[in-house]
Amino acid sequence: MRVVVLTGAGISAESGIRTFRGSDGLWEGHHIEDVASPDGFRRDPDTVYRFYNDRRRQLLQPEIQPNAAHLALARLEEKLGDDFLLVTQNIDDLHKRAGSLRLLPMHGELRRARCSACLGLPDWDGDFDEKTKCPACGKSGHLRPHVVWFGEMPLYMEDIYTALAQCEVFAAIGTSGNVYPAAGFVDVARRQAGARSFELNLEKSLVHNAFEEGRYGKATEIVPKWVDDIL
Ligand code: OAD
Repeated sequence: MRVVVLTGAGISAESGIRTFRGSDGLWEGHHIEDVASPDGFRRDPDTVYRFYNDRRRQLLQPEIQPNAAHLALARLEEKLGDDFLLVTQNIDDLHKRAGSLRLLPMHGELRRARCSACLGLPDWDGDFDEKTKCPACGKSGHLRPHVVWFGEMPLYMEDIYTALAQCEVFAAIGTSGNVYPAAGFVDVARRQAGARSFELNLEKSLVHNAFEEGRYGKATEIVPKWVDDIL
């Protein structure tokens, strides 16, 4: 059974990481466009560097750990092996820490920097800013967070669409369906592969009508149960 799972911020909420679109419409007190767009970065790079430095520091707090939903997906992968693919919109590394290996972080990774001079993607656990030198090429002024911003192309798209076109089961977990192309993956899986489709979320997403089945509740409760059911 070939399975593709897409995850979003909701799967990490119970690990203590706030989702993007909280009830106040802000991401940790900021308008999303200010801290997640090339324009926002050009306008005020200091704020953007500081914002991701704060997110990275938060992610590395000892109390932030993978939860039962991340672990359940790692268990599903253990059973399915190469028939499983996990695509995440999250920039945290909680799936990796839970043991997921066949994992494509389509919106980038908080614990990496990107150098526009040498195109390197160094691992990064500390702070960095405009003045920081790239450890690979030694140039400063070229590092930015390795995060896909609005208006930029998500990563791994070819591999993702190939897997969607061949899957028998597609599930979207903890994502609000606001951001494309991810919000349209369900249509691709259904149209091109005839996949069974599941939405698992706290509440109905913007695209809930596109799914055959919806299960609503906390990820730590509904995801382990769903994994048991499909296995
Ligand atoms: P959102 O913050 O838009 O949506 C999170 C979803 O998770 C909402 O539908 C919540 O109802 C649901 N949720 C919250 N707590 C939950 C829980 N405990 N269990 C299950 N579901 C829960 O986050 P995303 O859809 O991931 O992009 O956002 C998509 C993209 O928008 C992000 O990757 C980011 C952002 O701009 C970039 O940074 C490029």
